[in-house]
Amino acid sequence: MSNPATSIRPADVAKAARKIGTPFYFYDADVIRARYLALRGALPERWRIYFAAKANPNLAILGIYRGLGGMVECASAGEMLAAVKAGFKGSDIALSGPVKAAQEHAFLKRKKIAAIHSETETELRGLDALGVRQNVALRLNVEFHRGRVTAGRIMSGGMDKFGFSPEEAAEVLRRRDGYKNLKFVGFHFYAGTQMLSARSWLDAAEKYALAAAAVCRKTGFLPEYLNFGGGLGVPYRADESEIDLDDLGRGCARLEKKLSGLAELRRAKFFVEPGRYLAGPAGAYVMRVVALKKMRGTNFAITDGGIHHALLPFRVSREFPAFLVGGRGGKKRRYVLGGPLCTTLDQSDLPIDLPPLREGDLIAIGNSGAYGYATGMHFFLSHPLPAEVLQDGGKLTLIRRPSESEHLFRLQTRMPL
Ligand SMILES: Cc1ncc(COP(=O)(O)O)c(C=O)c1O
Repeated sequence: MSNPATSIRPADVAKAARKIGTPFYFYDADVIRARYLALRGALPERWRIYFAAKANPNLAILGIYRGLGGMVECASAGEMLAAVKAGFKGSDIALSGPVKAAQEHAFLKRKKIAAIHSETETELRGLDALGVRQNVALRLNVEFHRGRVTAGRIMSGGMDKFGFSPEEAAEVLRRRDGYKNLKFVGFHFYAGTQMLSARSWLDAAEKYALAAAAVCRKTGFLPEYLNFGGGLGVPYRADESEIDLDDLGRGCARLEKKLSGLAELRRAKFFVEPGRYLAGPAGAYVMRVVALKKMRGTNFAITDGGIHHALLPFRVSREFPAFLVGGRGGKKRRYVLGGPLCTTLDQSDLPIDLPPLREGDLIAIGNSGAYGYATGMHFFLSHPLPAEVLQDGGKLTLIRRPSESEHLFRLQTRMPL
């Protein structure tokens, strides 16, 4: 599973390229299922998994997680609407994000969800004023020992904008009876993304849970919901390896035992909400080599795909996890890959070793099943939006059409205001 190239059948990719043109996203439903089930199998039985829709909100992909019995963590009204369209019930949806504005309010007025992860008192007052009963969990922003937690990006402690400090959370909970429509169910936490060490993830989770327990001791609050967030990483570079699921699972079981032994947390149920780990390796962004050239000793492969469609897969690591679809014999060469945008951001920082390329070859950027389509700078340089294709049981399905140029103009008006 660690090699993102393995599950993708070159003949299927070539067939999709013939039928819809390049560039496009290509996902493998079997890999999606296998990764979900592997994590499910590793975690203690009582833990439940939300899929972080921000990683890949395509309805067909969300539908696979629903079919597996997963739940979904959303961060906007748009993602919650996608979740509902994909068949999730309100009780399977959690809402995160630093801002819940009019559109989220409109959704929450219509549908009760499992938990709203709340981050400010202003937000709590706004939610209370909606006049409908909703569950809220306070997102805790906990200081932890950064030396012990290694992540691609840390999002708690320090100057990170998210959530409540434990002291503020305690203040809110002391006044919880003042919120007539909100049921305070527990806590949410998100340490950071792209953690490849189970120990790092577990250290952060334990620190957060103990901070939550301390808040409970001060306030007499008994949580029923402890959400440890996402953050499980996937290897992008050759020198990185998959997070050890056995270590993670054993650590979660130990953590559960320890936390359930604390009087304050005895009623808590445990949740995680990964995105990248579940969906990343299930997808590739496929583009065509349109030109080859050599300048000052560097081989450039110019491609029709780039960061307008796939910002994070290209930028998360200085080496793109790129491979030649179908492979080719011959001694590898170093190539800098460059996309169609007028910026050097749209090229690999480091050369990549690939078999000798030819114009017309298909190059795939692996690990693009998460934070791929959704992170593109879709309007920069006014190129069409890419298609998305799902391979499932030998069948290829177009799950999003590529756009016509019309998408560029649809919302533009000359409406007097
Ligand atoms: C609140 C929250 N939950 C879950 C996730 C998913 O994180 P990851 O893809 O690192 O597992 C994110 C990502 O930013 C997030 O902000």
